[in-house]
Amino acid sequence: KFKPRVFSGIQPSGGLTLGNYLGAIKRFVDMQDSGIETLYCMVDMHAITVWQDPEALRRQTRELAAGYLAAGLDPAKSILFNQSQVSAHAELGWVFNCVARMGWMNRMTQWKDKTTGKNAEQASLGLFAYPSLMAADILVYHATHVPVGEDQKQHVELTRDIAAKFNHDYKVDFFPITEPVIEGAATRVMSLRDGSKKMSKSDPSDNSRINLTDDADKIASKIRKAKTDAEPLPESMEGLDARPEAKNLVNIYAALSGMSKEAVLGEFAGQGFGAFKPKLADLAVASLAPISVEMGRLMEDPAEIDRILGAGADRAAAIAEPVLAQTLDIVGM
Ligand code: ADP
Ligand code: NA
Repeated sequence: KFKPRVFSGIQPSGGLTLGNYLGAIKRFVDMQDSGIETLYCMVDMHAITVWQDPEALRRQTRELAAGYLAAGLDPAKSILFNQSQVSAHAELGWVFNCVARMGWMNRMTQWKDKTTGKNAEQASLGLFAYPSLMAADILVYHATHVPVGEDQKQHVELTRDIAAKFNHDYKVDFFPITEPVIEGAATRVMSLRDGSKKMSKSDPSDNSRINLTDDADKIASKIRKAKTDAEPLPESMEGLDARPEAKNLVNIYAALSGMSKEAVLGEFAGQGFGAFKPKLADLAVASLAPISVEMGRLMEDPAEIDRILGAGADRAAAIAEPVLAQTLDIVGM
């Protein structure tokens, strides 16, 4: 009933990391050549759930678009656009705020993580409701597949719950039950300084992450400094179960090279990090430094980025507006 369609988004809240690249963008690029229609968004309305300096937000949105393009997304093959330029997202988001239940939102682990230690009373209402807007981002395109990192799995499950409840409450079969697509060797890239934390742009330590804007020297130096242990690499992945930092570097090597994790261990088993890290650094520099250079080049022409995003928004709206109109009709509006 639903034709296959891929949607995903990233917040322009400043700085893309290797985690965003391996968990999301690199896989967006793979999917654009699958013959399925692909839509990729800068979700700026999610970014403002935490206060953003307006000029910085404008710059970060263009920088994220430059990151998408530099990594290989092609506006002729994928629809690239800004969430706030397609108003159907916000309108469907309101309908979904009336479908989603408070209890569902309260159970979101990302909400709980972001508000522990702090006063949840001081978090924005938007931060609490953001997974409901994310459901609208996906379902306003009747998207059937959403490539995301592991950390977004629960939010895609919530999207499925919202679609099912809407279909049930209004006795329709209108929204698809979307599948999260969480695959590849690095669905959860960890901090280079602490293997128990995910690599994140919000980590205060810049050495904990590789930014897509880092140059070759910085990438190599961060990998040299990455926390590891003194043991050689084992023969099989089970041998890394109690060594999260070592396992993370093997996952990153596999994801960047396209090799299986087993093949990486086949090549490096018995060797220590003194031998493995320079090889990983070379691979990371070869894969990522050209992206950083191309992002810099694209950022010199912000008007061209705006033109691409404007054209993408027109194409996205042409899909979203009829879905919104039908939704409102179903609801009785
Ligand atoms: P962030 O988590 O960096 O704030 P977003 O929430 O906008 O950024 O996430 C954008 C995409 O990047 C999502 O698909 C998310 O799952 C993925 N992602 C973010 N961090 C990682 C990570 N450390 N490992 C794998 N995927 C990640
Ligand atoms: Na995230």
